[in-house]
Amino acid sequence: MKLFIDTADPDQIRLAHSWGIIDGVTTNPSHVAKTGRSAQELYREILSLIDGPVSLETIGLTAPEIIEEARALAKMGPNVVVKVPIIKEGLKAVKVLSREGIKTNVTVTFSPLQAMLAAKCGATYISPFVGRLDAAGHFGMELVRQIRTIYVNYGFKTEIIVAAVRHPTHVLEAALAGADICTMSIDVLQQLYDHPLTDLAVDIFLKDWAKVPK
Ligand code: E4P
Repeated sequence: MKLFIDTADPDQIRLAHSWGIIDGVTTNPSHVAKTGRSAQELYREILSLIDGPVSLETIGLTAPEIIEEARALAKMGPNVVVKVPIIKEGLKAVKVLSREGIKTNVTVTFSPLQAMLAAKCGATYISPFVGRLDAAGHFGMELVRQIRTIYVNYGFKTEIIVAAVRHPTHVLEAALAGADICTMSIDVLQQLYDHPLTDLAVDIFLKDWAKVPK
């Protein structure tokens, strides 16, 4: 499973990239707002940091607006993926963009039928928001399993990005469900490395090694 970092903070992207486990980046308007920087300048810096797919989100609510934004974003680099909300106008735009060879990430997905429509329109990626579903009393990962089944049944090539990930168990469940990608914060990425038994074992080995005659 590919791992993406979900942030617009270049320092976090640099750090995660240095660990050697990052395949791509997803941003969104909230992440961009947190940086306090202009989107254009920020996007250029992020695109200079990583060769893998970088999702940049459109803001327009009509297909012509989304298409115009998407074409401009796609010109910023060969690895740009245009993030489009799963509204009717968004999917109209995705259909046009996919014919033009512009990669799309259809976002804010909360139902398997939305995901089926996105795949029919040629979406490159689909982003189900599992943590937000869990918080609303649903089983977010069940959505991922249903999307996987639909895509396998009909041979859709759209890749599933499990998003709104809150903890390592979401990452495990995503991998077991056969998701193509999981996108997460730097904190969750860090947690993937952590296990108290690993720390304990390293500590004991170092203490024992100190007893070995030199
Ligand atoms: C993914 O592409 C989204 O940016 C992200 O996961 C949004 O989810 P959250 O704001 O609920 O964390």
